[in-house]
Amino acid sequence: MSHGAATNSFLASINSAATPGRNLTLGNDSASVVTETVLRRDLFATFRERCWPGANSPPIPPVTQPSRAVQTGRVILDELPTPIVLAPMAGGPSTPELAGAVCTAGGLGFLAAGYLTAADTAARIAALRELTGAAFGVNLFVPGAPTPAEHFAGYLDRLGRHYPLGAARFDADGWDEKLELLTTDPVPVVSCTFGCPSQERIERLHRAGSEVWVTVTSVAEARIAVAAGADVLVAQGAEAGGHRGGFTDHPDDDGIDPLGTLVLIQLLRATVDAPVVAAGGIATGAGIAAALAAGAAATQLGTAFLRCPETGTSALHRDALEIDTPTMLTRAFSGRRARGLRNQFILDNTDAPAAYPEIHYATGPLRAQARADDNADAVNLWAGQAHPLTEEIPAADLVRKLHEDAKTASESALSRLNRPC
Ligand SMILES: Cc1cc2nc3c(=O)[nH]c(=O)nc-3n(C[C@H](O)[C@H](O)[C@H](O)COP(=O)(O)O)c2cc1C
Repeated sequence: MSHGAATNSFLASINSAATPGRNLTLGNDSASVVTETVLRRDLFATFRERCWPGANSPPIPPVTQPSRAVQTGRVILDELPTPIVLAPMAGGPSTPELAGAVCTAGGLGFLAAGYLTAADTAARIAALRELTGAAFGVNLFVPGAPTPAEHFAGYLDRLGRHYPLGAARFDADGWDEKLELLTTDPVPVVSCTFGCPSQERIERLHRAGSEVWVTVTSVAEARIAVAAGADVLVAQGAEAGGHRGGFTDHPDDDGIDPLGTLVLIQLLRATVDAPVVAAGGIATGAGIAAALAAGAAATQLGTAFLRCPETGTSALHRDALEIDTPTMLTRAFSGRRARGLRNQFILDNTDAPAAYPEIHYATGPLRAQARADDNADAVNLWAGQAHPLTEEIPAADLVRKLHEDAKTASESALSRLNRPC
């Protein structure tokens, strides 16, 4: 049976099972007319599983509740001099100096705690506090679950014939220890990526005095985050550099067709009641103005800062960013989809399985070797689609320039809108 025929017969079975007395409209043409609130949830779940494998895990809360920030009317973004947030960038680029420079210019600086121990995270927080008294954020990786070895053994066997590999181990990236650190020595904002912390953990961070931000890549994830108590949603579009920050990396999820930043902001504005920070492919003042006009409360930029002198970007990565290479999404280096500059390793391994962080640890030695050999073809060079617009410019100057350019772009857009008819 074709996919369309299967869907039609399934829609018929849902129609016949609809709750009596409810006005249920299901057409042949689209699942978009399926109204979640009027379907029996088990049937809806089955429909979703058939049309969108993996969509039922985790479950989507049926109703949206206002985030804590909306309930209290207070959010750090409302007091920021400029709506520019530095993206956390684990693996080298994030430094206290970079975060401090962004804070100095009126933006919100961020530290990446991914891959760091709790002690190293504490040291970086202390270093940043030496540089600024302004608000800043710390970003954590939410741990997933181990992947059975048989899912990635074949891939690593193949890589092992050509490259040095390490052990494919699972760990929680020091999640509990870092949460303990941030509840005993709180920071203004804690952001989470790769998943949504439990309501209980979010409440712990709230009690410590932190705002909790959660990265989302879809409306379904946004609903879960708001229901769990997130204050702010970081809406990461497909254009973004680095790892996709969604809750799962199910191969059938949105692997073929992830949402772009502008689409995601518009969808979130229409469905959830929480401030949204737009992330992905924003590298100019005009890009910032566009995201704000679409309803974002602020913008988060990563790639745009990769060439700043305060950033810990490697020389190999900096050189590669100067060349106008296309980017692509890949699981080849880490077992989790991430966007980076296209190179031979990515092209050779487009079939890499989803197994994070096992593949990340296994490829550590091969990436280190390639770095030592100055071989850009076997290193993860994370970058967003707008990377050709990056400049080598001090971070504070970049923030000020982006702010001024965003004002100019907004005024230009407004003058077009205000033309007499
Ligand atoms: C080198 C690099 C490292 C990144 N590391 C992290 C990280 O540790 N945590 C996180 O939440 N996002 C990380 N991201 C994603 C950013 O938070 C953000 O979504 C992205 O940079 C926005 O898109 P842009 O790069 O086009 O500005 C990283 C991005 C890059 C480019």
